[in-house]
Amino acid sequence: MKTILHFLFIVILFCFCAIHLVSAKKNISTKNELGESSFKYIFNLLQDITVGKRIDTLSTGVKFTDIIQDLKNETLQNILLLNSDLQNEDIYLNATQLIRKNGYQVEEYEVETEDGYLLLLVRIRGSGPTVFLMHGILLSSDDWVTAGTDIGIGYLLAAEGFDVWMGNARGNKHSRKHRTLSPDTAEFWNFSYYEIGIYDLPAMIDYTLAVTKQEKLIYVGHSQGTTTFFVMASERQEYNSKISVMIALAPIGAPAHVKSLVLLLIRVITLDYPQIFFGGARSIGIQEIFPSNVLTRAFTTLVCSQLIFQKTICRSIIEALVGYDESQVFYPSLSTVYAHIPSGSSTKQFEHFGQGVSSRHFAKFDYGKVENFRLYSRSTPPEYPLQNITTPIAFFYGLSDLFAPPEDVLHLQRQLPNIIETYEVPFKKFSHLDFVYAKDLEKLVFARMLEIIILYV
Ligand SMILES: *[C@@H]1O[C@H](CO)[C@@H](O)[C@H](O)[C@H]1NC(C)=O
Ligand SMILES: *[C@@H]1O[C@H](CO)[C@@H](O)[C@H](O)[C@H]1NC(C)=O
Ligand SMILES: *[C@@H]1O[C@H](CO)[C@@H](O)[C@H](O)[C@H]1NC(C)=O
Ligand SMILES: *[C@@H]1O[C@H](CO)[C@@H](O)[C@H](O)[C@H]1NC(C)=O
Ligand SMILES: *[C@@H]1O[C@H](CO)[C@@H](O)[C@H](O)[C@H]1NC(C)=O
Repeated sequence: MKTILHFLFIVILFCFCAIHLVSAKKNISTKNELGESSFKYIFNLLQDITVGKRIDTLSTGVKFTDIIQDLKNETLQNILLLNSDLQNEDIYLNATQLIRKNGYQVEEYEVETEDGYLLLLVRIRGSGPTVFLMHGILLSSDDWVTAGTDIGIGYLLAAEGFDVWMGNARGNKHSRKHRTLSPDTAEFWNFSYYEIGIYDLPAMIDYTLAVTKQEKLIYVGHSQGTTTFFVMASERQEYNSKISVMIALAPIGAPAHVKSLVLLLIRVITLDYPQIFFGGARSIGIQEIFPSNVLTRAFTTLVCSQLIFQKTICRSIIEALVGYDESQVFYPSLSTVYAHIPSGSSTKQFEHFGQGVSSRHFAKFDYGKVENFRLYSRSTPPEYPLQNITTPIAFFYGLSDLFAPPEDVLHLQRQLPNIIETYEVPFKKFSHLDFVYAKDLEKLVFARMLEIIILYV
């Protein structure tokens, strides 16, 4: 069953790759970046993998050893090397090393939550007001800097003099640690964005305030980094007074209109109960989704550092999962971005978001009637008391965001009492990951963000 699920997922991804290979084939061969025949090999190889042909001889009659031979072809190697970023040292450095290399003062801290998780906080030291940045699902603190010093919000804030603190949610590659539990156990992974909101954020915010000796900080969240904030600010209301202003980039509550292709497919398969897919995965022992391991790292580092694959396979995977905005891709740092994702999340996080998709309620985790009664004294999980959030909040959303589409963002905005601004990014194709990696992030998002922040410090 586990293998079948994995296989299905891979098939879906490869179908998208195939579509792109077909469309990219024309463009690339006319540009002579890669010979027609080599492309055919790759294309057929993908086809063969997806339909499960024997691995030693492909449908084209080509033997596996021939392909290896072909890869040794000097012409092909030259082409790959020409457009490859494998010699770029940034793809091998971790975010802390990258920040230091770029001339910023960086520090790492370990924070323990009430329930024993050990989280990494990364700080770019500055003398100005404290800003706390919280990443989205499958991402980490790295993603505030990997796009480079002209794009990364971590750098842009540091350049303005802010003291920048970047959090990491439990379960991601930097926070896959617990005082007593091993990440090999189901107990370790028994959390969703709810626990990140009520335990991780408070622990990291208190720690940040204690070290900086401040009473308040500015909170910037992206995607799930906003969801977790709404959970904290409504469930632990004392934290509202610790946040001077909150910037919500691509805010998410109940993602009822999520349009990601993979999730749409899962919705179709599960008759609009996507949580069944993730709950099923969990019940057969798949507790973690897209971890940062040898396999994913080898793939994102070796494969996604090649221009040809950036434009095809790697693009397709991102496109199928969250959507893709070609016009905002910044190629010079793309390999570095890829080399630092994915960072891993619990399957239960996806299951919880899936519940929001089908129930359309931004509510606590649904454990089923019996367990709900025990935990919540009612048959359905309670919604978060969003009306009690007092922190001033600014919403930023993109028109082409498949994860936080405008209808969901505006619905959520109407439930919050203290919205100070709802900013539609003035670029039609602006998508979910553009809020961290877009070429024109400074102009399209950061400039307005800074104007708002300055009003509250
Ligand atoms: C190929 O070129 C056409 C026309 O220039 C363009 O519309 C299309 O997006 C390109 N495809 C890829 C995959 O780059
Ligand atoms: C290497 O590849 C190029 C382009 O595909 C081709 O023209 C050439 O014949 C190949 N050389 C060998 C030795 O296979
Ligand atoms: C980055 O690498 C350095 C040197 O190996 C290490 O001390 C540091 O903890 C690493 N940081 C992260 C965030 O992985
Ligand atoms: C997971 O957490 C829930 C809620 O805290 C609890 O009811 C359940 O027993 C836990 N399950 C496991 C396997 O630890
Ligand atoms: C919301 O705040 C009001 C007033 O402080 C309080 O009475 C109420 O219990 C809060 N609601 C929830 C669900 O916490």
